Amino acid sequence: MKSPVRVAVTGAAGQICYSLLFRIASGSMLGPDQPVELRLLEITPALKALEGVVMELDDCAFPLLAGVQIGDDANQVFDGVNLACLVGARPRTKGMERGDLLEANGAIFKPQGRALNDHAADDVRVLITGNPANTNALIAMSNAPDIPRERFNALTRLDHNRAVAQLAAKTGSSVNDVKHLSIWGNHSATQYPDVFHATVGGRPAPELVDQAWLESDFLPRVQQRGAAIIEARGASSAASAANATVDHMRDWVLGTAEDDWVSMSVPSDGSYGVPEGIISSFPCTVSGGAYSIVQGLDVNDFSRGKIDASTAELVEEREAVRSLGLID
Ligand code: NAI
Repeated sequence: MKSPVRVAVTGAAGQICYSLLFRIASGSMLGPDQPVELRLLEITPALKALEGVVMELDDCAFPLLAGVQIGDDANQVFDGVNLACLVGARPRTKGMERGDLLEANGAIFKPQGRALNDHAADDVRVLITGNPANTNALIAMSNAPDIPRERFNALTRLDHNRAVAQLAAKTGSSVNDVKHLSIWGNHSATQYPDVFHATVGGRPAPELVDQAWLESDFLPRVQQRGAAIIEARGASSAASAANATVDHMRDWVLGTAEDDWVSMSVPSDGSYGVPEGIISSFPCTVSGGAYSIVQGLDVNDFSRGKIDASTAELVEEREAVRSLGLID
């Protein structure tokens, strides 16, 4: 038997984690022969609820679950962790300005970045799901100077999966037939789901759908999907967000399929004119545990405008958190 991988999860008593923890413990994330040890972080008032979740984890008798520890101190919970899923975040409440939201999340992600820096294992990889995910990832990364920057990603896989499902439905195809779709930019309403390099059953997607559908149906539907789910369910997407978190981490650790790529928010190296340093979504492949941004794609004028708009929003968020003293 392999030795367990230590996986930290924050926001562990929340909605997403009520799905995520069980998927990790069952082997969906790291495979059917990889034991896991869970390290669960919550704020103090939520620890009792978290104890209930742990009772349910016990009651599943997962063969791969080698241990569970819970706590409200990031320095202890992150000790020796190999993977960290940062899900817990401060939601936007009524009357809250964007600056307040960034500040409240900075108060979470700055100390968590430091705690990872000081206590995580040398090989730690960190995925931020909690919103605003890209900028929270930037804050955590900037406060963890000893961890290589490329070990910090943010989640845009849910947007990717949503776009795949929409394109498959429109073309009457299976999701298995859709390849090479890309999400660019921020995990926000400005994100750009790009089908210009996508294929469906081997045929170029732009031959199968027209520009009017792309602009007036597909883009807003993917961009606004989170709001549509809140409207229908009365609560934000949770199981699908957990699933995307599992997909992202699994592909980051185990690699992407030979004939496809996935969308990952990673620190920009300036590829495609995206300002260096911001954490922005790109088409990526993973091999040997390291991701690479797919290079050499043509970006048409329509895509250029959309990518620039979303990355400009990320630059604005970076300047806002810089002026709050959350990053240098
Ligand atoms: P939730 O409100 O049900 O759970 C959040 C949990 O985080 C709560 O239990 C809270 O006590 C905990 N928490 C707050 N501060 C914490 C801290 N400092 N340390 C540890 N835990 C802390 O929220 P839900 O539905 O689970 O969503 C979590 C986050 O994921 C939200 O920010 C949400 O906007 C985001 N999200 C991101 C998506 C993406 O695609 N990137 C998709 C859907 C949600």
